[in-house]
Amino acid sequence: MAAFQPVGLVGFGLMGQGIATCLLSRGFSVRVYDSDRRTYARGQTNIDFALAELLRRRLIKAQVRKNWRDRLQCVSTFDDFARCPLIIESVPENLELKHQLFRELEAVVSPRAILASNTSSLPISMLQSVLRAPARFIGMHWGVPTQLVPFFEVIPGTRTSKRTVTLACELGVACGKDPIVLRQDIRGFIGNRLMYAMMREACYLVETGIGDIETVDRAFRHGLGWWSLLAGPFRWMDLTGIPAYAAVMEGLLPKLSNQKTVPDVMQDAVRRGSEGISNGKGFYRYDKAGAARWRKAWIEFSYDVKTLADKYEKLNRVK
Ligand SMILES: NC(=O)c1ccc[n+]([C@@H]2O[C@H](COP(=O)([O-])OP(=O)(O)OC[C@H]3O[C@@H](n4cnc5c(N)ncnc54)[C@H](O)[C@@H]3O)[C@@H](O)[C@H]2O)c1
Repeated sequence: MAAFQPVGLVGFGLMGQGIATCLLSRGFSVRVYDSDRRTYARGQTNIDFALAELLRRRLIKAQVRKNWRDRLQCVSTFDDFARCPLIIESVPENLELKHQLFRELEAVVSPRAILASNTSSLPISMLQSVLRAPARFIGMHWGVPTQLVPFFEVIPGTRTSKRTVTLACELGVACGKDPIVLRQDIRGFIGNRLMYAMMREACYLVETGIGDIETVDRAFRHGLGWWSLLAGPFRWMDLTGIPAYAAVMEGLLPKLSNQKTVPDVMQDAVRRGSEGISNGKGFYRYDKAGAARWRKAWIEFSYDVKTLADKYEKLNRVK
């Protein structure tokens, strides 16, 4: 753990706050920088709330909750990262912005410091192309709620060193994660490729009038959503019989959507200003109380799921 401290974080939005919460809950010291200083107060309120909940559920020690403020430093320039052995970037998904930021970071950090990006989809080889020392650069893709889910993708670019991969995995394990290391850099990585394939089909089913939004959501929750905690797609085929899937694939795959552009249902939502529960306008509508109910449910559910997922994790590990 000492090898990583203090961990530097750039971007203190949804993900930056989540990563900070996770690191602080595991005893790390963290330095955070955000170009919008208003995030500092908001972020600390959210971290305090999340750590209180972890303590209430006895997932962290009282001491960790008590001293987290001493271990978090909100800094005002990148110079404060000079002594950080690891800096994780979590700013918006924009290639130019991330390139610019890594160029600036590389000018101030130590030559051996690891630079990681929490990008959801940008190819790591493309991100590392602007660095003078690309071997120290890696994709480190965290999930939400960051302090709870074991999801942690480690994506080496074509020029990432083995040392960087090993250290990234060690950090993940120290944070209670189950690192998934990709053998090759690919846009969207594994988790998001699976999710977006499903989302494209969901949009297609709504746009072609096969089902409305609520119906598609219900089909997902009661089917795939129901078993996905127990088994991944391949285990599921083992459980339910492989030949049937091969037979269905033959007829069905040519009929699935392979649209290459953003679906209309998404473009229309963005044009209407729909952001989701954050502004009350999503595919469903939320008043303040409704949005609060869903936020609370999401956290509650994540804790419930954790218990269940932990229970079946061992079984999935048996070779
Ligand atoms: N939202 C998710 O579920 C999720 C999951 C995994 C990964 N990601 C990825 O994480 C990254 C961040 O996503 P998010 O949802 O936290 O976004 P966000 O908009 O909530 O937060 C981004 C933060 O970066 C700050 N920022 C912008 N420009 C900056 C700069 N030049 N220097 C320092 N700070 C700057 C913003 O002020 C903001 O606080 C994206 O690459 C995203 O694709 C998101």
